Amino acid sequence: MSAGVDLDDPTLYSRLDSQNMGSLLRDFPKLFAEGWRQAGAFDPKLDGRRIKKIVFLGMGGSAVAGEMAAGLLRLEEGAPATVLHHDYGIPPGVDRETLVIVSSYSGNTEETLSGVELALETGAMLVGITTGGLVAEVAEKKGFPWFPITLKSPPRCALPYSLPALLGVLWKLGVGRNREKDVREAVQALQGLADGIVPETPTAGNAAKKLAVDMRGRIPVIYGGGLTAPVARRWKTQVNENAKAWAFSEELPEAHHNAILGVEQPAELRERLFLVLLDSPAIHLRTRLRFQITTDILGERKVLTHTWTGSGSGHLAQMACATLLGDYASYYLALIYGRDPTPVETIDRIKARLARE
Ligand code: F6R
Repeated sequence: MSAGVDLDDPTLYSRLDSQNMGSLLRDFPKLFAEGWRQAGAFDPKLDGRRIKKIVFLGMGGSAVAGEMAAGLLRLEEGAPATVLHHDYGIPPGVDRETLVIVSSYSGNTEETLSGVELALETGAMLVGITTGGLVAEVAEKKGFPWFPITLKSPPRCALPYSLPALLGVLWKLGVGRNREKDVREAVQALQGLADGIVPETPTAGNAAKKLAVDMRGRIPVIYGGGLTAPVARRWKTQVNENAKAWAFSEELPEAHHNAILGVEQPAELRERLFLVLLDSPAIHLRTRLRFQITTDILGERKVLTHTWTGSGSGHLAQMACATLLGDYASYYLALIYGRDPTPVETIDRIKARLARE
């Protein structure tokens, strides 16, 4: 671990960020508008059947947009039930009234692909979201629509593009409302936040850099609830993949029935934990109170905590801003640890071995 890394040193970025993840982060608001715009030009052409349930198939970075879209749909009266499936095959209950979203950036992820054939056998409606690969190949062969991701990026960095694109595709399929206004609001909020957390903004006034400094040498545990639960999981995975570091996420209120006790042992680990609580005015009032209770309990046990409270009225804007903050914090943490944020060599190694065995 490099102790004296200066996040305000501009040469740090060119030295470590060899594939320029920084420029994708900088483009986050622009990509958000672009994903929505491109979904507007997509014609999914399904047969107009009623959609009672949506199953999101996807792994890792390609699962996040579905999880966030499901979080937003859960807040909408009359929206279909959603099921997130991060595994081989398909969950039980997929039928002709189920929409199966097959999300894989590469189009070649074996768990996701393994569900496609099974979903087709049930007569479900399928829509792919991918850059191509086998998902696109199967879609062409079997005749189901797929939305082409045109962004060139590591899969996880496509989120600012793929989340609004997915919301647009769902709207085109008659699921959820037209989120044109929400997307505009989100883009504006993202632009407002971005200026304060870009590399040029010095650490003293940069919330993302400060979070990364606090994460250094500690295990971040990100708490979310309601709307911010999927964002907390995104922070965890971004710290894992960008910084190549431990991180965990928890969800309130559930964590108050178990995880909150974990802080007691091993006692010597307490000073090695850093709890980030993602609060938002859109969260259930009782859950918001639980954020406060969590901070109080952890404070008594001398665990370092930080609460981020999203501002702005729109749910999508709040979700997007909290995501951008976490993406930047994990990026800065990678640099603090002296790591290039883009490569995920161990994931590649696992995929290569599975392809052979
Ligand atoms: C890499 C990343 C990974 C992949 C995952 C699935 O940036 O985020 O978590 O998203 O290994 O691969 P794809 O997205 O190609 O289906």
